[in-house]
Order: sequence, then C-alpha cells, then structure tokens
Amino acid sequence: MIILNAILRSLDLGLAMPETTQLPPGPRYPRLLQTMGWVLRPTVFLARCREQYGNVFTLDIAREKTWVLLSDPDAIREVFTGDTTLLHAGKGNALLLPILGSRSVVLLDDEAHLTTRKLILPAFHGARMQRYGDLMREIAEREIERWPVCEPMALLPRMRAVTLEVIMRAVFGMESDNDLRHMRRVISDLYAASKGWRALLGMVMFGSASIRWVRPLERALASVDTALFDHIRTRRRDPTLAGRDDVLSQLLQARYDDGSPMTDKELRDQLVTLLWAGHTTTATSLTWAVERLVRHPDKVERLRADMAQGNHAYTDAVVKETLRLRPIIPIVVRRLVEPMEIAGWRLPAGVSVVPCIYLVHHRPDCIPIRIGLNRSAFSIRTRALTLGYLLVVALIDAQGPASPRSRCASCLRPL
Ligand code: HEM
Repeated sequence: MIILNAILRSLDLGLAMPETTQLPPGPRYPRLLQTMGWVLRPTVFLARCREQYGNVFTLDIAREKTWVLLSDPDAIREVFTGDTTLLHAGKGNALLLPILGSRSVVLLDDEAHLTTRKLILPAFHGARMQRYGDLMREIAEREIERWPVCEPMALLPRMRAVTLEVIMRAVFGMESDNDLRHMRRVISDLYAASKGWRALLGMVMFGSASIRWVRPLERALASVDTALFDHIRTRRRDPTLAGRDDVLSQLLQARYDDGSPMTDKELRDQLVTLLWAGHTTTATSLTWAVERLVRHPDKVERLRADMAQGNHAYTDAVVKETLRLRPIIPIVVRRLVEPMEIAGWRLPAGVSVVPCIYLVHHRPDCIPIRIGLNRSAFSIRTRALTLGYLLVVALIDAQGPASPRSRCASCLRPL
C-alpha cells in the first residue's frame, strides 16, 4: 500500500489515500508516571517496558512527548543509516539549549550541523589526538601519585578531576595556574548546582526554560560563560596562536567557506559542548572500568602483561566491554521530520525515534561478552599504571567501532 500510495502521489492525480501512521505499544499509565519512571529509575523502567512490550515500544515523556524506543540492532541500523535530513538529532536534543547554547553542534541539523562539524573535526584528527595522549598520561600519573594507599577512596570525583584537567588543557588550551584554578572552581560550582534530580526533572517536565527557576544553576552557568568569554578573547589576541595545538586554538583559526571565523558566542557554545560531552562521560566510564576490574585479579594481570608487551588489544577490549556493560549515555534521540517506516512501523512526523544503548547492550543475543567483566569475583586493589593507561586509551578511543552515523566527535569518523 505504501508503494501504491507513493506512485499515486507521484502521478499527482489527487487519488492518493491519506497515509496511515501508527505507534508501537507502550505503557498506558499517565505521562507524569512514565516521566517519573524515566527520570528516577531509568534502567528498571526500561527493562520492564521491554519485557512487557518487546524491542520497539512507545513512551510518553513530559515535554519530550512521544518517544519510540528501539533495542533491536536492525531497527537501530535503519536509524543510523537513514536520511539525516529527515532524522533530526539537533531537535531531539533541544532540552540542552540553555546550557549548550543555540550554536552548539549537538543542537544543529542539516547544513548548519555539517558546516559546524567540518570546522570542529580537524581538531579531533587522529594524529592530534595521539599527541594529546602524552598530556593525558602526565595528568593521570600526577593525579594517581596523590591517591591514598590501603585506604578506601571515592573514585568518581578523582576521575572527574583528571578528565576536567584534560579538557581544560587539551580543549581550552589553558596553562596558567590562575586560569586553571578559576575555571576549576566555576565548573565545580556548575556541577554542584546541577546535581540531583530536581533540576533534571524540572527541565524534562517544564522545558528547558525552567532552568531559570534554579537560580544557583543559572548563576553558576553565567560564571562559566564569563570565564570562557574572557579566555576566548585573550586567546584570540595571542601572538602564538598559529603554533598552538589545543582545540580552542584550532577553532579560532578555522574558517567557514566564505572565509569568516567563528564568533565568540559560537566558540563558547562549542567549548561548553565539549566540556559537557567529554568530561563526566569519560570520568564515569573510567570509574566503571575500575569498578569492574577490581573484581577480576586475573584480568588486571592480563592487562599488565598486555601493556608490558606494548600490545593494546586486551586494553581496547576492556574499554569496549566496560562501555557495553555500563553505557553511561542510555539513549540517542532523532526527531522525525516526515512520517517514516522504521522497524516495520509507519511512524508519524514529530515523534522521536530513540535507539536505546542501554537495552541493546543488555541483550545477550547480540553483544558478545568477550572477556567476562560482567561476572563478579572477589575484590583486589588495582595499580596506578593500569588506571593511567586506561585513561589514555579511553579518551583516545572511547567509542569503539562507531555506528555509521554516530555523532560523537570523539569517534574521529569522517562526515
Ligand atoms: C566514554 C566517553 C564518551 C561517550 C560514552 C560518548 C557518547 C556519545 C554519544 C552517545 C553521543 C551522541 C551520538 C549521536 O547522537 O549519534 C555523543 C556525541 C558527542 N560527543 Fe561523545 N562520548 C564520549 C566522549 C566524548 C569526548 C571525550 C568528547 C570530546 C571532548 C565527545 C564529544 C562529543 C560531541 C561534540 C558530540 C556531538 C556531536 C554531534 O552532534 O555532531 N564525546 N557522544
């Protein structure tokens, strides 16, 4: 019928039948309850929905409205290989607008997205990323030196300190102790103000503008902006700019096709985006890697042997398996511009198709668990070198084999 309809429409004889679209099944309880499930207990909520409705189900999430969750690899492939002019990621991420800013690459679609990505990607080119490796190793080793021995320690804050230092130096290109100290303080205020579910729930329920109701968050964001704008202006005037290797310096020298540079506002939006996308994500993944590894002394030994031989294959597998077992971003979102058939359902325009990383990675039938970090064993302490090495590998190769249209800049894939 779809084909017949298309033929009739192309002949333009006025005979085409209205297209019927349909949504897959999903919970029948009110939107508010579904939203609470999603915000407060996402993993349990998602697993129950899949148990009940299968690999394609519909959720109704506050202002996000209709989400069609996908956890079937073929259906997800349809989305990632689909026409990006009809599957809008930027619109799907609109909630982040007040934080990331309207020029953020994460919020753009179509031509604007391609143009911005073309300017950003060279800064993440493989060879340059490899050069950042030395800096990452140095930062990791310095941090680990300070860790207590034979005492319990909360790992996540320490990993955050490491990845923030990497972003401030490799991405923002900051060097002076004063600048680093000030930026560390305003960013830690921002995280403190955005912590907890209240801010998140408010944004999901009432839209991104509700950020204004969380005054400490608004103030903290304004302080980060002031620090970044000052830094961008200073770096723009820096006579050594051409010889610098950090991401901001690359972006300052990049030019659109008409020869114009990025404005300060565009630069600010990309820097906040890279901070948001690269800082806590990587810190959380590293923390999970250690949490998994300390249960497996044999695997820690194997990692050490791998490193001693200069062989990265096993380390690479540890990073990828950690990302599979503990995916820290549970979904990606694409908003449909037109009705589209996905996973056998003719879906209406305006709904979001949502490949669910969490659910697909918890399907025993499609992701082989290769090295067994999912099993629990007894605890041991790991050694500093392992962590430092994991950090470098994770930051350089965080994503593993990228999907054809994954938008993560750290995947280093061409457009
Ligand atoms: C373990 C670490 C990381 C994970 C799990 C992760 C995951 C993701 C995911 C799932 C997306 C959305 C992709 C899509 O919509 O197709 C994304 C986008 C993105 N990531 Fe990452 N990421 C990580 C580290 C980083 C780092 C270190 C950076 C850079 C400093 C980065 C920069 C970005 C950017 C700029 C985007 C948006 C790209 C676009 O929209 O074109 N990510 N990331």
